[in-house]
Amino acid sequence: MTGSPWSVSASGHLPIPLRHCLEAAVAAPSIHNSQPWRFRLDADGVIDVYVDHSRRLAVVDPRGREALISVGAAVFNLRVAMLAHGRAPMVRLLPAADHPDLAARVIVGPRTRITGTARLLAHAIPLRRTNRRPFDETPLPREVLTDLADAASVEGGTLVQVDPTVRDAVLGLVRTAELRRRNEPAYQAELADWTAQANGRSDGIPPEAYGPWSAMEAVPLRDFGLIQPGRRRAVRTFEIEPTIALLYSAGDSREDWLRAGQALERTLLTATARSVATTLMTQPLEIPELRELIADPRTGWQPQAIIRFGYGPPSPPTPRRPLEEVTEVPAMAPATGARAGAPGADRHHEAMVPPAPAHRP
Ligand SMILES: Cc1cc2nc3c(=O)[nH]c(=O)nc-3n(C[C@H](O)[C@H](O)[C@H](O)COP(=O)(O)O)c2cc1C
Repeated sequence: MTGSPWSVSASGHLPIPLRHCLEAAVAAPSIHNSQPWRFRLDADGVIDVYVDHSRRLAVVDPRGREALISVGAAVFNLRVAMLAHGRAPMVRLLPAADHPDLAARVIVGPRTRITGTARLLAHAIPLRRTNRRPFDETPLPREVLTDLADAASVEGGTLVQVDPTVRDAVLGLVRTAELRRRNEPAYQAELADWTAQANGRSDGIPPEAYGPWSAMEAVPLRDFGLIQPGRRRAVRTFEIEPTIALLYSAGDSREDWLRAGQALERTLLTATARSVATTLMTQPLEIPELRELIADPRTGWQPQAIIRFGYGPPSPPTPRRPLEEVTEVPAMAPATGARAGAPGADRHHEAMVPPAPAHRP
């Protein structure tokens, strides 16, 4: 595919379609905006997506479940962006058993017709936000709830909107988890790392994204201002009847987490396309004995995310690391004019895993 609009140039420059796809990938949500991903590009339209364990949250995510969900969300955006460019992505999850950090291989596949769904989801990628503001009391119409459940199920997830009794129980577990964590020095230190302010910081959560305090913690959002008690936060009344849904996957393997990330992102983008705001509230899923209480004993389904949906005011964007920081381009032979200092320019792709058969367009 050398010379095509999907090939990295000899100087290491990304062609525009490839750049668009990677920009879409990094717009994905990630736990604490940790952006635990890296992309390694091949000259021939192959994008290897790695989980970056140096960015894993050791306290809340010791097994790397939420890191892989985040990477799965980035893979989903990559797929959608490719489709919106008229190319069918071919995706293989965990393609190399001896390279466990290689989360996915995405290959730019054959030309394909651009569908309305691909356009709609691609348009939603830069608009999606985690919105921690009060939502109004307007319930979501039934057809929107159906669309959201369908979005999750297309990607192999199960989205269950919980009735008021179960919802209050789930919110109780979120509150319990949040209060328990707030007293843990290790949790505080980890939160401090991801909320510390620094000029030009391109990861973590900035104060403008924290949202106000929910009066009486009726909607127990994660308190990102925990270690900044000096910061005054307005107290607001949140919606009395929040719409809460649980996203389940059939199993709890690394592949299930990557699939759950794709189901999550498809659900969030579908909500965004329908002007529905979303918030993740995953605190009880980070404490095994609380997570067990949310697992479905009849089916064995494993909870991967707790999502609040509603209609709310706009929420600001959070920063992202520049592509140059997360992307490694192929090493070019000096004769082809490799740019000194370009990522990967000084070393060849060592130990490239053999291409695996793509199993999913
Ligand atoms: C697996 C996962 C878990 C998350 N858990 C929470 C959470 O418990 N509370 C919260 O407010 N945001 C949560 N988020 C949202 C991230 O904080 C958010 O995606 C990140 O800060 C980037 O902001 P954005 O979503 O507005 O782009 C979670 C995101 C992911 C992918």
